[in-house]
Amino acid sequence: SKGAAMVTAVAQRLASQRRQVDEALSSLKLTQEHLGYVKSRMRAGLEAGLKSQGPSPVKMLPAYVYRTPDGTEHGNYLALDLGGTNFRVLLVKIRSGLSRSVRLYNKIYAIPLEVMQGTGEELFDHIVQCISDFLDYMGMKNTRLPLGFTFSFPCYQKAIDTGTLVSWTKGFKATGCQGNDVVDMLREAIKRRNEFDLDIVAIVNDTVGTMMSCAYEDPQCEIGLIAGTGSNVCYMEELSNVEKLHVPQNGKEGRNGGKVEEECTEAQAKDVIGREAGEEEEEEEEQSGPNVRMCINTEWGGLGEDGCLDDIITPYDSAVDRDSLNQGRQRFEKMTSGLYLGEIVRQVLLDLTRRGLLFRGHVTEALKTPGIFHTKYLSQIESDRLALLQVRSILQQLGLESTINDSIVVKEVCGAVSRRAAQMCGAGMAAVVDKIRENRGLDHLDVTVGVDGTLYKLHPHFSMVLQDTVRALAPQCQVTFTLSEEGSGKGAALITAVARGGPARS
Ligand code: GLC
Repeated sequence: SKGAAMVTAVAQRLASQRRQVDEALSSLKLTQEHLGYVKSRMRAGLEAGLKSQGPSPVKMLPAYVYRTPDGTEHGNYLALDLGGTNFRVLLVKIRSGLSRSVRLYNKIYAIPLEVMQGTGEELFDHIVQCISDFLDYMGMKNTRLPLGFTFSFPCYQKAIDTGTLVSWTKGFKATGCQGNDVVDMLREAIKRRNEFDLDIVAIVNDTVGTMMSCAYEDPQCEIGLIAGTGSNVCYMEELSNVEKLHVPQNGKEGRNGGKVEEECTEAQAKDVIGREAGEEEEEEEEQSGPNVRMCINTEWGGLGEDGCLDDIITPYDSAVDRDSLNQGRQRFEKMTSGLYLGEIVRQVLLDLTRRGLLFRGHVTEALKTPGIFHTKYLSQIESDRLALLQVRSILQQLGLESTINDSIVVKEVCGAVSRRAAQMCGAGMAAVVDKIRENRGLDHLDVTVGVDGTLYKLHPHFSMVLQDTVRALAPQCQVTFTLSEEGSGKGAALITAVARGGPARS
């Protein structure tokens, strides 16, 4: 009959639609074999970064943090947190001994887009204005507080209190900062304002702060992970493996004092590395004790800048990269972090819509708007407790009119994109933990990872998939993931305390 023929036609159309959607999604699915490749490429990236003097995709930046906290830290510290979802200024009160505790007071400030992407001077003047407001608020303008500056971008450091910005990442691109010491820029801005003074003791990556704040509670914590706006990891590496650091030192003071004092030109450093590589290794082997390691900020988000991920990069990823502020850079980060996952989803939806498989083929303004899918929405859409009707109403809020069938597809797309992200992070983490295990000549390693970031904290499945992947790819390691609340505040203050050595004035 005519009715039956219509039903068959509809069924066929649906089946063909299904096939095409599945096909598009299959490019985002990674097999165990793929994940094994990601792990081994990350491992190769870590090794190359430790050796190379010049630019390398995984930068492996020495952080001049030689040990995790031991509970003797004490004092009042100011901490700044720039580079995550918010800009914050914090007062951190650390007490040791019987009254051991960490108390935090903080205020969140917005950094307007035009400041993020204006001039460096404007950016730092704005930061100093926020600090001024905070010190007024706390009534502490006349105390010269020690400051730990959490600055979550790749910095080349020569000591704990210097940091040359290698390149902006994520949503920042203020001019006149790349290649300059951001600590100097902050000091100058404080001078320009001429209202208060601060003792800038440490510049800290958010991964390092996260590791330190978690290690304060758990000495097994030797890794810090951020899965948020950006994606990055730091971990404790054997000093003898940090070849780019092997420069002339007066005795072993640099290693024991918590701060390497020497200044040397790159040419000198290369010279020494060339001549002494063999000798150094022998020396290291005899060494033992707490100061034979250093925290390395891997900047693993850069993996793939040399094309090593090209076989898993999809046209959707390429579109996201093309529209980003730093084209060609941070390829791993662009597949794994909050700033970009929503954009990948949007690219897939655009493609499906253009092919008539979604939203009745209507490419609306909303769908053409970059940045509509924040991590928050992805997390909501993927929540198992949410009925499809609710998915539909979230899409509606975003300006996307959908049928129930559309909502199913959107949810699948979100799932595929975030699952791949979590798996890739897991594969990267497997490389890191196996490296630590091999460094120490162990058959089995127990280690804790301190984690922070909106993606890890808000997404309903990300952390589970991440952990499952690590378990599968690094079976010789028992890896515990611990949420490290307040890494960038508490951690920065702890690093400042450790760097100062003794108790700070309170
Ligand atoms: C970006 C930054 C890195 C930071 C990470 C998480 O990858 O380059 O320094 O740790 O984001 O915020």
